[in-house]
Amino acid sequence: MLHNRRILLGITGSIAAYKSALLARELQRRGAEVRVVMTPVATEFITPLTLATLTGHRVYSDFTEDKNKGLWTNHVELGLWADVFLIAPATAQTLSSMVAGAGDNFLLAVHLSSRCPVIVAPAMDLDMFQHPATQENLGALRSREISIIEPDSGPLASGLDGKGRMAEPNDIADALDSWFADRSPLQGKRVLVTAGPTHEPIDAVRFIGNRSSGKMGYALAAAFAKAGATVKLITGPTQLTPPANVQEVVHVQTAQEMFDEAIASFEKVDIAVATAAVADARPINPSENKLRKNELPDAISLEPTPDTLAAFGANKHSGQFVVGFALETDEGRGSAQEKLKRKKADMIVLNTTADQGAGFGTDTNKVTIFEKDGKTHNFELKSKAEVAQDIVDTVMNSLQP
Ligand code: CTP
Repeated sequence: MLHNRRILLGITGSIAAYKSALLARELQRRGAEVRVVMTPVATEFITPLTLATLTGHRVYSDFTEDKNKGLWTNHVELGLWADVFLIAPATAQTLSSMVAGAGDNFLLAVHLSSRCPVIVAPAMDLDMFQHPATQENLGALRSREISIIEPDSGPLASGLDGKGRMAEPNDIADALDSWFADRSPLQGKRVLVTAGPTHEPIDAVRFIGNRSSGKMGYALAAAFAKAGATVKLITGPTQLTPPANVQEVVHVQTAQEMFDEAIASFEKVDIAVATAAVADARPINPSENKLRKNELPDAISLEPTPDTLAAFGANKHSGQFVVGFALETDEGRGSAQEKLKRKKADMIVLNTTADQGAGFGTDTNKVTIFEKDGKTHNFELKSKAEVAQDIVDTVMNSLQP
């Protein structure tokens, strides 16, 4: 959930500030973009240089860092940039100043001018944390819809033992992850994903199939589930274990079974995603027994299979969102856009085997997404899990008014 999120990390003057470096790292590892603001006291616990080096961005702690150039530091811009302002560690002093609406340091001015939600991870000695003033301040912040990441219990820098240690960086990142998941536009949405190849029987043991591994579809089902959706995965034969967070998995063999299962569920879903590499044709009258060598026909007559994605497009009602895939062997942009229109999808994801590392069987993919309204999004070669996240982000942005 932290992928592509812009997190403004506020650091205040607590010994726990040393953990903020690890926190910045962990947020970035999960795909977030991180900028840092510090109070002047925080810079005595950890240097701005450390945070600037880790995040690759200048760290702000003063209104007038550019004073020799006659410039002031724009606290309003930072607040507008962020998706969330996370203050970790947040000292008792900073919590109290936030309640009072003080703006006498740069971090507090950013707090007053920011429009994004604010989350605090308090850190202080146990008695300071228990003090009625701190508890009232936390209550006041909660009533302003500021989320609190509760401190842990354990040994404190004072030598005492109790509740007040800032939550561990990994736990703060998890809390932020859940915070975004709870607010995800996909929360509670029902998503249907088709994945993998289909096998069309020639006889009891032989079939027509293709080289699809199902990896892209499984990664997408996992990414939608992670973003808060309830996911049904309809999968053709693959070697993969279905993602643990997907609520329902149905295994099918043929294009007809995939079609029947998908259409039976389609009415109730909000988003349908057809990643499956469905066989376009099947043998007419497959034999129920294994054909002996001398019984094999010279030619196999084929008939078309039903097109699941086209049926989604033809039957969708207002509010439903349909995503298709186009696997091409050439540059493919024209045919992808043609498929978008012909199958009445809202979005089509082009991947072409012309790009090295993209398409069937690989762990990576390189996609271009075309939206119905003409918007196009080009992405680099990435792991299929990252590509899935890009697709989910693009769907989320498209669903947001
Ligand atoms: N698709 C489907 N059912 C089919 C065939 C395709 O649901 N019987 C879906 C795929 O899951 C994919 C999209 O349609 O989302 C495009 O699939 P693709 O194989 O690229 O296109 P085709 O429709 O098969 O067209 P062509 O073979 O001419 O490229």
